[in-house]
Formats: sequence, C-alpha cells, structure tokens
Amino acid sequence: MAAAKRIEIVRPDDWHLHLRDGAMLEAVLPYTAALYGRAIIMPNLAPPVRMTAEAEAYEGRIRAALPEDHPFRPLMTLYLTDTTDAADLRAGFESGAVTAVKLYPAGATTNSESGVTDTAKVASVLDAMAEIGMPLLVHGEVTDPDVDVFDREAVFIDTVLDPMRRRHPDLRVVLEHATTARAVDYVLAEKQGIAASITPHHLVINRNALFAGGLRPHMYCLPIAKREENRQALRRAATSGDGRFFLGTDSAPHPARLKETDCGCAGIFNAPNALEYTARVFEEEGALDRLEAFCSLNGPAFYRLLPNDDRIVLEKGETPESLPDSIAVPGGDSVRVFRADPVPLWRLSAGRRPVGRTA
Ligand code: NCD
Ligand code: ZN
Repeated sequence: MAAAKRIEIVRPDDWHLHLRDGAMLEAVLPYTAALYGRAIIMPNLAPPVRMTAEAEAYEGRIRAALPEDHPFRPLMTLYLTDTTDAADLRAGFESGAVTAVKLYPAGATTNSESGVTDTAKVASVLDAMAEIGMPLLVHGEVTDPDVDVFDREAVFIDTVLDPMRRRHPDLRVVLEHATTARAVDYVLAEKQGIAASITPHHLVINRNALFAGGLRPHMYCLPIAKREENRQALRRAATSGDGRFFLGTDSAPHPARLKETDCGCAGIFNAPNALEYTARVFEEEGALDRLEAFCSLNGPAFYRLLPNDDRIVLEKGETPESLPDSIAVPGGDSVRVFRADPVPLWRLSAGRRPVGRTA
C-alpha cells in the first residue's frame, strides 16, 4: 500500500496549553486558535488564576485577542492552593466557567510558588471535585531537591499521586505531560479515574537532545525529557489508541532571552507545529489511523465533551513547510519555535494561517 499523503481527522483540541497574558498572549494565541477547537488553559500566570472570577476575566482577555466570533474555545482552569475555596470552585464548574483544577506541587515549575504544599491540606476540595466530577490536572513531579530531577515524576507517582488517589478514589485525575514508562504503566494498571496527556516534544526528543553538541536551552522543559526507553513507552501509549492518552502540547512560551541565560526557564513553545510533529510520530509508528483518537477523540471523551464537529486535513509535502524559527512578541521579545530534526513534512492543507486581532 502506498504511504498516506493525506489524512483527514476531526478537528483536534489541546488539553494542556500555556497562553500567558498581555503581549505574549497576543503573539502566541493565533497559532493555537488557527487549528484547535478548544484548549485547556493553564492558570500559572503571575499571580495565578485562583478564583472563578479571575478565570472569567482571563477568558475575557483571551477572547479579546481573537477576531470577533472566532470559534476557538478556551477551557479555563483554576490553580489549586492550600487555601482554595471549594464553594467558588464548585460554582465555577457548575456554571461552565471553569473546566478543571490544576495542581502544582509548590515550587515544581514556572510560577508554582503558590502551589500545594501537601495534598492532605486540600482534602475537602478534592472531595468536592470527586463529587461533581471535576478533573484534577496534576503536574506530577516531587520538588524535593534530594530527588534526582530525572526521577521526580516516578517518585511523585508512588509517594503523592497514588496515595492521594487511594484517599479520593472517585477523583478524576489527568497526569499532565507524562514523560516516563512508569507513568504509562501506572495509568494502564488502573481501571478508572486516571488519564495522561502527552506532549509532542516528549514523543520526539529524549534527554540527549538537551546536550546535543552543547547545552540546548530550547529543549529544556519540565518535566525534563528522559531516557530513550521512556520516549518509546510514550510513543507506544500515544499511538495505541487507548482512550486514556491524549494530546496536551504543553506549549509554554518564554522570551528567548529568559531561556538563553545563566538560569534559563523551563518551557518549549510548540504551538505552531505540535500537530505536525505528532503526525510525524504517528507515521513513523505506522499508526496514522490512530492520530485522530489521540488528538481529537480521547480528550473530549475523558472531559465528557463532544468531539469538535468539523474536520481538518493534513497533507504530506515533499519539503517541510517553512515556519519561522522564532516569533516576535509586541514590545521586542522573541520566542523560539520547537524544532527537532527531521522537521515534519506534514502540514495543514489550508496552510498555517494564524488568527488574531493582530495576526
Ligand atoms: C511550563 C511553563 O513555562 O509555564 N513549563 C514547562 O516546562 N512545561 C510549566 C509547566 O507546565 O510545568
Ligand atoms: Zn505546562
């Protein structure tokens, strides 16, 4: 059979996205809104989005950065803290203003200083979420500096995630940006109540990419890329069609100057080409027929939403689409776009047409 050159799938969603705010929001949103039907919007602004009213205001700023009546739908999240108000969260979920809650262990990653110090402190909030079926999205890394950075996800699963799920068996949890075989095995071993999002970059790079010929700040994100055997496990999970695994790009833009510095921050910006890299991976794995499940069907099923009602077409060209190496942010900054060779030959048949007020 000739290799596929064209594939049509239900419009995808992005189940883990950082859009930031202000000028950065304006610069990055057009890439996501051009393609995805919906995206789960991470609440780790500075200060974080903690209350329903703050999520509504943030949603308003996102919508204001889009052309009027644009169909892209931001799904808002709240940032869980030791003092989160269960009544506010419940009201936000029931009104539809808020879709999920994000748990950052305090200090685990960018803007996580006000995260949860001990999941026992949020027990009553987790009970309320279990009761109403509101998903808890977990940044799954321990923060103990004595734990090796490459082990922090596996240790989190054993010492925090699993005990928390035993205490709250009805809680619906997404282990965000899974990076290890341990995470895949954990999700597969459980009967219900847990899923995992997987990023394109963790399907494409292993930890060697961070040190290829020198130190590579644009390959640095959290959780950090792991050994090759982990990448292989993630590829098997993503391409399996199993409904517990879905696309969350974790596109996390930072100004290049804040990554190319003495203490560079974590985050890979892949919104302009995440789907294209994902298609490349599925093709390499002989699983293009399951791309739609991973990108467009499994996520809505977990979130108890309908899939998007229109479709997109990806085509494989002879040469890669020419994408900029970096994008400009109003005010003078630039953000590097994820790139790992080989650059995918897949592209949207309509071409990349970023949509925004300023695009
Ligand atoms: C994210 C960010 O920059 O906000 N960074 C990252 O490396 N993924 C935070 C996160 O999701 O951990
Ligand atoms: Zn993230």
